[in-house]
Amino acid sequence: MGRSGKTDVLMSRRGAVGAAAGLAFGGTAAMAGTARAADRDGGGERFRGKSVLITGATSGIGRAAAIAFAREGAKVAFCGRRERLGRAVEREIRESGGEATYLKADVRRPRDVRSFVERAVGRYGGPDIALNNAGIQLPFTDLHEVSIEEWDDVASTNIRGVFLAMKYQIPYMREAGGGVILVTGSTNQFATRTGLASYTAAKNGVTGLVQAAALENAAHHIRVVAVAPGMTDTEMLDAHRPEGISDEEWRLTKAAFAEQGVDAMKRMAEPEEIAAAALALASDAFAFQTGTSVPVDGGQLAGL
Ligand SMILES: NC(=O)c1ccc[n+]([C@@H]2O[C@H](COP(=O)([O-])OP(=O)(O)OC[C@H]3O[C@@H](n4cnc5c(N)ncnc54)[C@H](OP(=O)(O)O)[C@@H]3O)[C@@H](O)[C@H]2O)c1
Repeated sequence: MGRSGKTDVLMSRRGAVGAAAGLAFGGTAAMAGTARAADRDGGGERFRGKSVLITGATSGIGRAAAIAFAREGAKVAFCGRRERLGRAVEREIRESGGEATYLKADVRRPRDVRSFVERAVGRYGGPDIALNNAGIQLPFTDLHEVSIEEWDDVASTNIRGVFLAMKYQIPYMREAGGGVILVTGSTNQFATRTGLASYTAAKNGVTGLVQAAALENAAHHIRVVAVAPGMTDTEMLDAHRPEGISDEEWRLTKAAFAEQGVDAMKRMAEPEEIAAAALALASDAFAFQTGTSVPVDGGQLAGL
């Protein structure tokens, strides 16, 4: 049975609890091999004074990136719909001496995105760097059973939302003479598994959008790159959480899913590991990188 077959059985809505019951991966084992924060950024100052704009930083990868950019001296403006979480991330960054502002915005709404970019630039200038990260995933659903509303929601968030962000960011970057635009894509830019049609279609769109934006803007010294995470332990995975299972059962289920689906490292990424890759790609160390989508997947795509 192929990789996707194995994991689909494991993570089907019926199969998830059963899989968890038969497996016992401890938190320590699942975390083995993760990089320490100090090793990831070297305690650096790579983004001192830079204006960084992030969509979807109320949780997960975006939150980790906001914290990491601020730790390295950036001024970070970020959005998301959940105000309470946005304020909490802003507070966390400020309390540790960083600079950040939460601005409520829904990337599905053109007016919100435009106003987010304008307010962020008004506050911090730039933007020098944008990380267009906001995204959602449906529970695994065969495509003929995806409702039109669900399809539109995924497309509006995961691809149209990225287009809107770029649309309003690029003129500022051109005016300023350069910048870096990152997009959080996915390994689903390259391959998929049963039940992820809407998500995969949108993430494939990211590949083309990044290529097109890179070509159009290289002469303006704007680099455009997608970081393509594999399975990462964030709230997004909760879309697949079967009803009625305990937190411990869900933790074991996710560990089992990673064991089956991530052939090399056999674990999920921590959001901080994906954020670290995004920061590296945004840095001058990657000055020749543009138009590409870079998998950061623990060897998930390497396996058959
Ligand atoms: N976790 C994974 O395994 C994985 C793998 C590959 C790629 N990714 C990608 O990584 C990105 C971040 O996801 P995550 O894993 O960190 O999950 P997450 O914790 O659920 O974070 C998603 C973020 O996007 C924001 N968001 C969603 N819809 C939005 C909207 N309409 N307007 C504004 N913000 C919105 C959420 O904020 P609000 O809910 O507050 O609006 C949240 O801050 C996504 O693009 C996802 O596709 C994740």
